[in-house]
Formats: sequence, C-alpha cells, structure tokens
Amino acid sequence: MTHVTYHKPVLLNEAIRYLITDPDGIYVDGTLGGGGHSAHILAHLSEKGRLFGIDQDDDALRVASERFAGEDRIAMVRGNFGYMNALLPRDVAGRLSGILLDLGVSSHQIDEPERGFSFQKDGPLDMRMGALQELTAAAIVNEYEYEELRNLFFEFGEERESGRIARAIIRDRPLQTTGQLRDSVASAVPERFLNKSLARIFQALRIAVNSELNMLKRALEQGTEMLGEDGRFVVITYHSLEDRLCKNYFRYGNFEGIPKKDFYGNTITPLQTVTRKVVTASDNEVAVNPRARSAKLRAAVKISQGWNGKSGEKGGVA
Ligand SMILES: C[S@@+](CC[C@H](N)C(=O)[O-])C[C@H]1O[C@@H](n2cnc3c(N)ncnc32)[C@H](O)[C@@H]1O
Repeated sequence: MTHVTYHKPVLLNEAIRYLITDPDGIYVDGTLGGGGHSAHILAHLSEKGRLFGIDQDDDALRVASERFAGEDRIAMVRGNFGYMNALLPRDVAGRLSGILLDLGVSSHQIDEPERGFSFQKDGPLDMRMGALQELTAAAIVNEYEYEELRNLFFEFGEERESGRIARAIIRDRPLQTTGQLRDSVASAVPERFLNKSLARIFQALRIAVNSELNMLKRALEQGTEMLGEDGRFVVITYHSLEDRLCKNYFRYGNFEGIPKKDFYGNTITPLQTVTRKVVTASDNEVAVNPRARSAKLRAAVKISQGWNGKSGEKGGVA
C-alpha cells in the first residue's frame, strides 16, 4: 500500500487557495489520510512553515510517515481532531495560520473489507476509524433498542424507512457482517431504493460509531480558539449534517444557526465566512474522482475583536 493508491485528494487546489495566507505559518491538517492535502500544503510553505498532520487511523499514519520521511516541516500526530488542543504543542495555541479538515473516511478505509465501511464488500460490522475506540457497528446493530436504532437511522442517515429497517434488523439479529446487514435492509425496502438506503444506513452507523458530529463540533470550537488572528479554517464535508454544522458555525459562531447580535446589531461571531457560496468540485474532477461529487468546501477567517460583522469573498495568497 502506497500513498498513490491510498486516497485521491478532493478539491486540492481550492483547499490550498483558501487555507494558505502565510507561507511561514503553522498549519494543521486534521485529517492526514494518505497525505494528499498535506503534500500540497508543504509545497506552498517556506522552509520556516510548519505542519501538524493528525489522524486517528494507524494505516493513514503509516502511509503518511513513509511519504514524508525526511521532511522535517511536518509532525504527524495520532489521535482524534476533536481533541486537537490536547494533541498539539501548547506553544502553537492562538498562533495557527490555518486548519484543514477533509472529513469522513478515506478510499483506503472504504476499500478494505475488514474495516466494515462498505456495503459492497463483505466484512465484519466494525466501522471504527481509530483502533482506540471501543464501540463497533456490530454493538449498535445488535444491542440498540428499536427506538434508538430507528432514531439513529433517521437522524444520522435521514432515512425515511428507518422504522421498517430497524424492525428488520431486530428480527434478523444477531448480525455480524456487512453482508448480513445488507440482506436485512434489503428485506425492508424496495429493490429500486436499496442502494440509497444502504448508503444512508451505513452512513448513520459510521457517524454513530465514530461520534463524527460531536468530534466535528469540538474541532470547530477548539480549532477556532487555536487560530491566530486572520487564521483560516477550511472544511470539506461529504453530507448535509456535517455541512450544516460548518455553515452555521462559520456564520454565527454556533451550531444552531442563531444569529447573536451586539448592541449595534452586528453578528457576534469569532469567524467570518470567506467562501460566499459553498465550493464544489468541477465536472472534470468528478469525472476522475467520483468521491468528489458530494464534497462541499467552506472556509472562514478568524476575525479580530471589533470586526464589523459583514461577510464576503476573500481568497488566500496561493
Ligand atoms: C477523507 S480522508 C482524508 C484524506 C486526506 N485529505 C488525503 O488527501 O489523503 C479522512 C481521514 O481523516 C481521518 N479522520 C476522520 N475523522 C477523524 C477524527 N475525528 N480525528 C482524526 N482523524 C480523523 C480518517 O481516519 C481518514 O484517514
């Protein structure tokens, strides 16, 4: 396994354009993966620039360590980006020039049947991104009560047939493999909707197993604190639940999307959105990398106190 086959980075040039404003700065790639974005970040940094690459997956850290062997501007860190303030050295807090999060799973994680992320391959119902986690998809599928399962599929998968699917799963327990889960879902939804339902059910389980939305919220809050003034936050999301959290947080400084105004009517928020419209992949990129189809990039800048509250388009230097 090499970085070439590990993962093809999405929205690479766009991410760099919005992320890098200071080639001498300190950056964080919170989702190192195969190092696709990190390599490009390093190519845009000077000899003084520094990069921290975080991932919770040992496979990713192994591949990236080989890729960046001999490169002393990058430090690789094992852990969850939701704890980035504890993972990064204290002296970088409040001084970061930019943070990138390219969310979700890598192609490598999807392609390895034994990780259990894909409904197209048979493997154990695992879905843990990091080896340190305990909760597995099998535990959820086999132990949750009907209402918990139904709500999980509805909230994290936005699946309309959540109730029927939850009932089928409970009937077919115990389920140990992705193939068994697939059969159970297939018995509950019409054939023509099956692939969409499977995608939603697998997404819901993955989000729950990895506490993905919670970790994203933590990372947005901690990352914002760790940015220096004018530091950039760039996030690439792959489904609407993640995108909504980013959009709201970048615009309003909270996840509910509720504007908080000061005495003069200005929105009180630590960030200003710099992508006026969400950035998506070109047709050319989607043609060579289907995973790019659902990618949405948003970027924001940390603002100084006394900012006047207006939002607008602002590019980086790259
Ligand atoms: C879409 S891939 C990133 C690919 C990378 N940008 C590249 O170009 O190769 C997402 C990576 O982030 C990691 N990841 C996802 N959520 C994480 C979290 N909460 N903390 C740490 N790593 C996470 C996954 O293990 C995976 O390797």
